[in-house]
Amino acid sequence: MDNASAMSGDLDIEEFRRVAHQTADWIADYLRDVERYPVLPRVTPGQVRRSLPAAPPVTAESLDQMIDDIDRLILPATTHWNSPGFLAYFASTGSAPGIVGEMLTAALNVNAMLWRTGPAATELEVVVLDWLRQMVGLPEPLFGVINDTASSSTLYALAAARDALAADIHRRGMAGRDDLPRLRVYASAEAHSSVDKAAIVLGFGKAGICHVATDDDLRMDPNALRRAIEEDLAAGVIPCAVIATVGTTSTASIDPVPAIAELCAELGLWLHVDAAYAGAAAVAPEFRPIFDGVKRADSIVVNPHKWLFTPMDCSVLWTRRRDALRNAFAIVPEYLRTAESAGPDTVDLMDYGVSLGRRFRALKLWLIIRSFGVTGLAARIREHCRLATELGRWVQQSSGFELLAPVSLGVVCMRAHPAGLDDEQRLDALNEKVLTQINEDGQFFLSHTRVRGRYAIRVAFGNLRTSEVHVRSLCDALSAALVPLAAM
Ligand SMILES: Cc1ncc(COP(=O)(O)O)c(C=O)c1O
Repeated sequence: MDNASAMSGDLDIEEFRRVAHQTADWIADYLRDVERYPVLPRVTPGQVRRSLPAAPPVTAESLDQMIDDIDRLILPATTHWNSPGFLAYFASTGSAPGIVGEMLTAALNVNAMLWRTGPAATELEVVVLDWLRQMVGLPEPLFGVINDTASSSTLYALAAARDALAADIHRRGMAGRDDLPRLRVYASAEAHSSVDKAAIVLGFGKAGICHVATDDDLRMDPNALRRAIEEDLAAGVIPCAVIATVGTTSTASIDPVPAIAELCAELGLWLHVDAAYAGAAAVAPEFRPIFDGVKRADSIVVNPHKWLFTPMDCSVLWTRRRDALRNAFAIVPEYLRTAESAGPDTVDLMDYGVSLGRRFRALKLWLIIRSFGVTGLAARIREHCRLATELGRWVQQSSGFELLAPVSLGVVCMRAHPAGLDDEQRLDALNEKVLTQINEDGQFFLSHTRVRGRYAIRVAFGNLRTSEVHVRSLCDALSAALVPLAAM
């Protein structure tokens, strides 16, 4: 063992090399064989905990033993997000360049809180986010940072919107103020729950969020938005921000951003666009229209960890109001002051969110964009949308299933609806059983939602390895699950 390792208690460097090679082999085998595992593991809550020692080891154990334990205890209890059969929620694929990026990020172990503590990490983040801006066709100037999740990105955007109100909230806060009326943010009834969470955390409360009605295609109704804002203004409520969703969680519906942006400009409201899932689609030129009007937004969130094959976690927050975002979060105590902070080329990432510490997340995104190329990424996204259209066509042509919403990008919301069964409660129960049956079978993991109150089986394409073959076997699995259940 080399001297430094012996003193630190860490692995000898040659032993590390051996284990790291072995781990690389393990990862390659796992990715090659991922379809062998049931996508949703066959475990019950508490099972993993009970299989693990309740107390930590007193003396050192070998990494070989731990890798055995990963095979024995962890793999069988893992939900395989990397499986092509993962069609639930929104996919998150750990692509090869993304995994290599994570390995290197761990090795470099940079905390890019200040430019000084991670010059390459900081500047790569600036450059990669500008690449991504160009890839989705958004104009300059747009300042971007990478956060862990869209929930954080939206929270930070709304914090900036709140502080940008002329209400001196940054200094005086909101509690105990007779002079501060209720503040409100507006999002469609289909908006993601992270908007509600942000509203609660920021002190708007649940009452401070207005869920605006949607049209027949589950898109925010801009007339209803205008009415809600006007009623609030008449009642003395202060409108703070509007959140438009480009690609809602249930059905990937797309709010009419041009009309919403127009209204926000007229009333001087902050517009935040939640494109956490669908934003990636704008990389393919034919899907660029989903971003119509988005260039007018004050802030935009897009998650590469959803549909750009980036391992968890990576959420991009862009803003046209860099100063507002910075003003909301920049607090520089003496111990974090640096000589270069005031320079025009310096970005201190800690100034743009809650966390001081910052992972080097730009590295994996850099490797992914370079490894796939823009056209390669666009081709994958295009293929996922094609697979969704194909499944949608099958649903429409099948006698036992129906669509509950138009197919949008990679998302298909459907239900089993056998002829002669029209009772809504029984249909809900039947569809729950179909979904359970498919998920227990192990080849696929689908999730559900409700569309206009009806229980919907939801299929979302987005996994890098999902192909036409999987769509065909999913159709077979759906039909096979329905036949015995419909007869009951
Ligand atoms: C439209 C939308 N916004 C936000 C989120 C939250 O994403 P995150 O898990 O990155 O916080 C989701 C999650 O699926 C989503 O669908």
